Amino acid sequence: MDFRVDIDPSAPATPGSETFGLERGGSRRTMRIHDYDEVYAVPGLYEHVVQDLLGCTSPQTLAAALAVRVVAAGAAPSSVRCLDVGAGNGVSGEALTAAGLSPVAALDISAAAKDAAARDRPGLYVEYVVGALGDVELPALVRRLGLNALVSAGALTGRHIEPPVLAETWATFATGDWLAFTCAEQHADGARSDFEAHTTFELDERFLHRRLTNGDPVWYRVLVGRRR
Ligand SMILES: C[S@@+](CC[C@H](N)C(=O)[O-])C[C@H]1O[C@@H](n2cnc3c(N)ncnc32)[C@H](O)[C@@H]1O
Repeated sequence: MDFRVDIDPSAPATPGSETFGLERGGSRRTMRIHDYDEVYAVPGLYEHVVQDLLGCTSPQTLAAALAVRVVAAGAAPSSVRCLDVGAGNGVSGEALTAAGLSPVAALDISAAAKDAAARDRPGLYVEYVVGALGDVELPALVRRLGLNALVSAGALTGRHIEPPVLAETWATFATGDWLAFTCAEQHADGARSDFEAHTTFELDERFLHRRLTNGDPVWYRVLVGRRR
């Protein structure tokens, strides 16, 4: 790491507004966690702030929950070929791989996320699409790459992807395909209802997504289901 990060726990913190100090190359600046393009541009910075310092568990929680259901269904985790939406720099894809699943394709609105994934985790995804979910044509990609799982870790609501848009994408998938996402608990019932008509949910659990910079817990739910 060629940087130092400091977090002021006394600063007001709400999801989306949190800041931290970055010292790098002899200068210091204040950055917002949600200024993803700038954060992804510094190798290791997203991982250090979000995973190491704030304890984000969404990628691992989602991957473990999906793998458990896949094994319970008698399938091999490696046969689950995921479209990882809001994939960022590949932390979620790496967690899918660690759980034995196959992160085949990624999508993110940020070109910096794609660049960072290629820089820090080359070869993790077969294909990485840059665009806002809902604006990108996905059916051909899903068919061509044989994708059978739609996953999204820590990328719903809060000025990220809206659940109804994810539900529209879910229509691209076939009966029996897998869905897994994590969502802030205050939005999870609404998100779940967007999928209910076409989904049999097999798992819906509360977990500690991460801490805010002021130490407050951020509770999420992880949901796993299959298309019917
Ligand atoms: C908190 S990061 C999560 C990254 C990764 N899934 C992980 O677990 O480390 C949320 C990501 O969602 C992306 N994002 C936000 N809005 C989006 C949209 N409308 N379509 C696609 N990606 C979006 C952001 O660029 C960011 O990379």
